[in-house]
Amino acid sequence: MGGPSCRSARNALRRSASRTATTSPRGSLPPERGGSGGALMGAAMARKAGAVGSSSPRRGLALGSGRGACVGASVLEVRGLTYRPASAEKPLLNGVNFDLSPGRIGLIYGPSGSGKSTLLNVLAGFSTSYDGEVTLLPSKALGNGNGNGRGKTGTPRDVGVVFQFPERYFVGNTIMEELSFGWRHSSRVEARSEFVKRLVPVLKVTGLSDMPLDRKLTQLSGGYQRRVAIAVQLLRKPSVLLLDEPTAGMDMPSIEALCCTLESVKETSAVLVVSHDTDMLQGIADDVWEMKTGGILTRT
Ligand SMILES: Nc1ncnc2c1ncn2[C@@H]1O[C@H](COP(=O)(O)OP(=O)(O)OP(=O)(O)O)[C@@H](O)[C@H]1O
Ligand SMILES: [Mg+2]
Repeated sequence: MGGPSCRSARNALRRSASRTATTSPRGSLPPERGGSGGALMGAAMARKAGAVGSSSPRRGLALGSGRGACVGASVLEVRGLTYRPASAEKPLLNGVNFDLSPGRIGLIYGPSGSGKSTLLNVLAGFSTSYDGEVTLLPSKALGNGNGNGRGKTGTPRDVGVVFQFPERYFVGNTIMEELSFGWRHSSRVEARSEFVKRLVPVLKVTGLSDMPLDRKLTQLSGGYQRRVAIAVQLLRKPSVLLLDEPTAGMDMPSIEALCCTLESVKETSAVLVVSHDTDMLQGIADDVWEMKTGGILTRT
């Protein structure tokens, strides 16, 4: 996979190759063999986040910028986000503040257990009992032609989520079954034609254009399974695409392909990645924050 916007991904790969070639176990993996450790969550859980054809049981995010919103405003604003589930003795997120603008890739890195995935869960709407404000721009306000945005507020329907281990959540047997799942089961009659309209550009962005759509998901490498998981989300045209540890367990060519994909994705959806891996991802990130132990986020 390549494309016009892959230059910084390739440069980042070159910069990091010398640092990691002799030290990283990724270097010994065959191309596109991501392995289960780096796989991303697929359709099923993401559909809980409000995919086409489903009804989300979760409360919406706090606010949206509404009709007056436009490209240039933050697509995601987080203010004073503190989160302590009943099962935790201390807050897992501690006064988190950050903004993400359209057309940008944000990277949050930090040590294991610092709260990165917890933050993603809150942003995706899976955890709702938090203090502070999470403000999401509706997809419609980005002018990307999305029909998800309803009214003036952004909701979890405007968020795409790709967690780890997609093969655990795939619901189809083939690529096409996976991509079309929510659309096929939609009660909206326009859904099928809308799906067809969106499919070709999404396949292009995710590097799946040349892949037979009747290919079984189990026959795909970890890297290609991630592409399918991302494509499922992009079909929904989210305002923000959230990815948890997208490079874990991947070899360098697969990471480069992923970075190219994300650079294309950001043209229509802002991207927020949480990861241990700063080698490659910092090369394509427009904004970088560090999550410190205790759920404290600082801009770097
Ligand atoms: N529901 C919960 N109740 C209590 N503690 C929790 C809960 N969920 C997560 N934790 C704890 O919160 C901390 C942050 O977890 P989280 O999974 O967000 O970290 P992370 O930064 O994503 O780590 P990793 O890099 O290993 O994925 C951990 O110590 C975890 O054990
Ligand atoms: Mg995590």
